[in-house]
Amino acid sequence: MQRSGTEIKALLDMDLTRENAWALLTEYVTAEPLLKHCLGVEASMREYARVFEQDEEFWGFVGLIHDFDFEIHPTLDQHPQDGAPILRDRGVPEAVIQSVLSHADHLNVPRASRLELTLAAVDEMSGFVTAVALVRPSKSIDEVTPQSVRKKMKDKAFARAVDRHTMISAAEALGVEFDEHIQHVTDAIATIAPRLGLSRTAQHEPNVEVVTGN
Ligand SMILES: [Fe+2]
Ligand SMILES: [Fe+2]
Repeated sequence: MQRSGTEIKALLDMDLTRENAWALLTEYVTAEPLLKHCLGVEASMREYARVFEQDEEFWGFVGLIHDFDFEIHPTLDQHPQDGAPILRDRGVPEAVIQSVLSHADHLNVPRASRLELTLAAVDEMSGFVTAVALVRPSKSIDEVTPQSVRKKMKDKAFARAVDRHTMISAAEALGVEFDEHIQHVTDAIATIAPRLGLSRTAQHEPNVEVVTGN
């Protein structure tokens, strides 16, 4: 049986499973801070996929691998563009590669989909929300609110590498009100809090009446 080029390509395409994304990521990334960044972006992409009723596995895959080459290509004259051929060799579908390329402002790849707008909007915010939780004595993500994040954004000395203007304009481009955006990302980070060195303080158990007999 003769297979068309498209059919062969489909057979060679990598399955977009979390297992495959993690294997690819950890082949190229060993530094814990970068792994945490990728996990935070993945969790945020999954959260937004649920909000927008999109394919959570696909969105999570893109989020997890978007910076896979940053350890081997730590400067913008290489990242992420020089990572693209590696992804192509691995059979990562072109749609994923285009989305990865779109997160880099300097490449001027138009953000053509909601996924790509979301990736740009959560890239900086996920780390910023994590940092806001980490400086609290409790390190609890449950103490982070849109108000506390906005307050830290005004503090120029805090997480100074994060460009505030980019965070605001990316949320605007996504079309999500800024406080709502902060809340979605905070909810996402909460789902993986222990992995990021954060705690939970909220009471998640139902209120149980204790009978003491007195
Ligand atoms: Fe990046
Ligand atoms: Fe990133």
